[in-house]
Amino acid sequence: MLFLVSRISTKSTKMNIRNGTPEDLMNMQHCNLLCLPENYQMKYYFYHGLSWPQLSYVAEDENGKIVGYVLAKIDEDQRPREEDPEDSVPHGHITSLAVKRSYRRLGLAKKLMDQASRAMVECFDAQYVSLHVRKSNRAALHLYTETLKFQISEIEPKYYADGEDAYAMRRNLADFKYQKTPKKPAIEQSPKTDSDKTNTRTECDKTSMKADGDKTSAKGDAVKTITKEESDKNDAAAVDAIAQNLEKSSVS
Ligand SMILES: CC(C)(COP(=O)(O)OP(=O)(O)OC[C@H]1O[C@@H](n2cnc3c(N)ncnc32)[C@H](O)[C@@H]1OP(=O)(O)O)[C@@H](O)C(=O)NCCC(=O)NCCS
Repeated sequence: MLFLVSRISTKSTKMNIRNGTPEDLMNMQHCNLLCLPENYQMKYYFYHGLSWPQLSYVAEDENGKIVGYVLAKIDEDQRPREEDPEDSVPHGHITSLAVKRSYRRLGLAKKLMDQASRAMVECFDAQYVSLHVRKSNRAALHLYTETLKFQISEIEPKYYADGEDAYAMRRNLADFKYQKTPKKPAIEQSPKTDSDKTNTRTECDKTSMKADGDKTSAKGDAVKTITKEESDKNDAAAVDAIAQNLEKSSVS
């Protein structure tokens, strides 16, 4: 189901920003390969798509072609750390952002970032969003500091594989919190059917999407709490299986 979030009209074309779906992941990877030297295996895209389906967005042209994306996650390492107490509050992280060359300066990156940030607040109560950017990336730095009001939190020497330093940046998401969509008053509903349940995957379902060592696994009626390590192992196995199936189906 297409969940159209916003529509941008330019002189020649209409663009949509919408929540990314598993079907979009290959096109997101394609866009990433065209735009950035930081590339990831398909299973890393699946890891994001399966773990935080609410947080990644795509920009598509009027023919449905993906021309930009933001891949985002919730930072799971929320144990209190003395040197950076802010690390222990729920926060999001932008793994990757890119817009194809001929679609730049249309405001797409700003929209993608704002949609992902809003979803981080609404679905996970994120307090801030972080990212890394190359010191030499003037376009992205301008976008982050001037347009989106990120602040530099740290310089990470030799962060990138080629030895370039990164700025670690953060944006406070309090403004999105105040804009939170008001909750509708509860109305009595008839029990959901199984097919209804499967369609709620892209909604903000905090209880089934909890980050960190609070995951539960259901087997029959029994629900047992599993550790973060077990849960990570399960996630990794599931992602591997999906990636293998995907590779098989794209070969045949
Ligand atoms: C950085 C990038 C994502 C920006 O995408 P975009 O859709 O063109 O950005 P927007 O149109 O939303 O730009 C919003 C603002 O960012 C700033 N900006 C964007 N591109 C800029 C550029 N080339 N030079 C200076 N400022 C720029 C401007 O302030 C712009 O507002 P304005 O157009 O009103 O002046 C895009 O250039 C890109 O994909 N680059 C390659 C991949 C990349 O570097 N990703 C970020 C990795 S951290």
